[in-house]
Amino acid sequence: ASLPRSSLSSTTETSTVSNSYSAPDEEIERRRNLAIISHPDSGKTTMTEKLLLYGGALQQAGAVRMKGEQRATQSDFMEMEKERGISISATVMSFDYRTMHINILDTPGHQDFSEDTYRALAAADNAVMLLDAAKGLEPQTRKLFEVARMRGLPLFTFANKMDRPALSPYELMDQIEAEFGLETYPCLWPIGDGDRFKGVLDRMDNVVHLFDRGDRKSKAEVEQVPMGDLETLKARIDDDELYEKLIEDQELLEELISPLDMDRVMEGQQSPLFFGSAMTNFGVQLFLDKFLDMGTKPAPRLARRMEEGPKGKKAKAQESADDDEPNDLILPEHEEFTGFVFKTQANLDPKHRDRLAYIRVVSGKFEKGMKVGHSRSKHGKKYNLAQAQTLFGSDRESVEVAYPGDVIGINNPGAFAIGDTLYTGTDKVAFPGIPSFSPEVFAYIRSPNPSSFKSFRKGIDQLLAEGAVQSLRQRNDDGGGPLILAAVGQLQFEVVQARLRSEYNVESDLEPIGYDLARWVDGGWDAVDKADADGKLFNIMIVQDRWQRPVLLFRNEWKAASLQEEEKYLELKPWSR
Ligand code: G4P
Repeated sequence: ASLPRSSLSSTTETSTVSNSYSAPDEEIERRRNLAIISHPDSGKTTMTEKLLLYGGALQQAGAVRMKGEQRATQSDFMEMEKERGISISATVMSFDYRTMHINILDTPGHQDFSEDTYRALAAADNAVMLLDAAKGLEPQTRKLFEVARMRGLPLFTFANKMDRPALSPYELMDQIEAEFGLETYPCLWPIGDGDRFKGVLDRMDNVVHLFDRGDRKSKAEVEQVPMGDLETLKARIDDDELYEKLIEDQELLEELISPLDMDRVMEGQQSPLFFGSAMTNFGVQLFLDKFLDMGTKPAPRLARRMEEGPKGKKAKAQESADDDEPNDLILPEHEEFTGFVFKTQANLDPKHRDRLAYIRVVSGKFEKGMKVGHSRSKHGKKYNLAQAQTLFGSDRESVEVAYPGDVIGINNPGAFAIGDTLYTGTDKVAFPGIPSFSPEVFAYIRSPNPSSFKSFRKGIDQLLAEGAVQSLRQRNDDGGGPLILAAVGQLQFEVVQARLRSEYNVESDLEPIGYDLARWVDGGWDAVDKADADGKLFNIMIVQDRWQRPVLLFRNEWKAASLQEEEKYLELKPWSR
């Protein structure tokens, strides 16, 4: 989205008044954050471990073994839920490497957690698409790619598991181009694969890195040979066929591939492509070094910004005059702190019954004890951010300061929900909300035991606030009727039930509802009434979301598509905004 230059207010002007909440340029410049998107089993956990290893954040890879949620059995999963510090909620892992500070935003791998992944992408500035080189694009990669694209994130591609038989690199490039309309630029180029994997050509530095099948757990020792030193190269590759192919490929790539265009990379139109083997730690450091050069520093974000006049009167007047459209671009250098909540979580530590809100810092400097305004607060109420923390593994570290691109967990008094903005200064700032994935499974949830209804209610409210699932109600229900839970996958329901039991000590009954698809009706309730009166909503369930907006539940995609085709005024949308 582009903004007319004139609509940008003082955010973009350099201020001469120094404010204690502005972030030093060097802290902004040295920050990179990324979210890894991948299909389960592609090696995301392994890759994350190796990256942390380079930062010295881990003594030995293996310490973050999240042991893929996706492959775990149900009981394993619940077990991991208990150790939530490392499984579902590592949320962010930070490390320093050379002069840089890197934040890896966790993207839960299980398909039922795409909602969380979606939000992690809302907080990220760079995405890394990790592929199993033998499998190419897989369902979860496709789904998450769409989200990354919608956000317009620069996308880096890492083809992993080259130590195993892989698709040809050309085939991988073709797949990505054909399916995603995304051109790739191979920064690295593989020499062989599987047992004959010899290494990669670094096309940017014209050096070949030879692969040495070393110790799985430590940093790989690599030998480098300049591409110009053909004699040594031939001897070291020690496979005439692969050597010839490398020479041939190099020429071919020079001819065929358009040059790297950083503007296009930044817009997500061209994807720098890497090959390696995370498990054997080959190509990971090369990737990291190049990613740090090419990836974007914390990016500016569009927001709605309003002057908060005496007692917020002016803000109110403006609010009613316009809708929520963003009118300003908040740069990381903006002289005030701003950030938004992209995840909330309760009871991380069962002993303390605490609640955390995870904030992505967009501008300025977070300081322990600072007072912030809150986008949804009507009367300019300020909150004291007494302490923040980051989670690393199961350990918490308290944070004194944080800068743009960082993620901090703050104690949530209950007021902060996903999508909310926190800010310092006199202007009220609100970043656009984070849309949710369209739910695909639905069920009534009830408390079988009236005496524990209060705890049941409290637990449900909290889990809804976390966005673990969404809630719907029947059309004319003013709060007394049965609550409908809506989620992307069945597992989310099971997590809700298990957490109600373990954290709130209440049982719950689920009654599945046989619909497969939800569509928000942008045309509003009048449109719903019209369609209903015309008998068009047969076999379609009419419900409302938390904000009393109309939602229709369908038994299948086809039914939704044909209704939309026939009754255009309904304006069916897969997203709730
Ligand atoms: P995920 O988080 O994306 O689900 O993947 P994860 O890292 O858990 O890796 C999935 C499996 O793939 C693991 O094997 C892992 O060791 C293996 N793997 C990851 N990267 C590479 C690679 O570069 N080459 C090869 N050959 N394998 C790789 P596993 O047998 O399920 O677990 P483990 O016994 O190895 O720990």
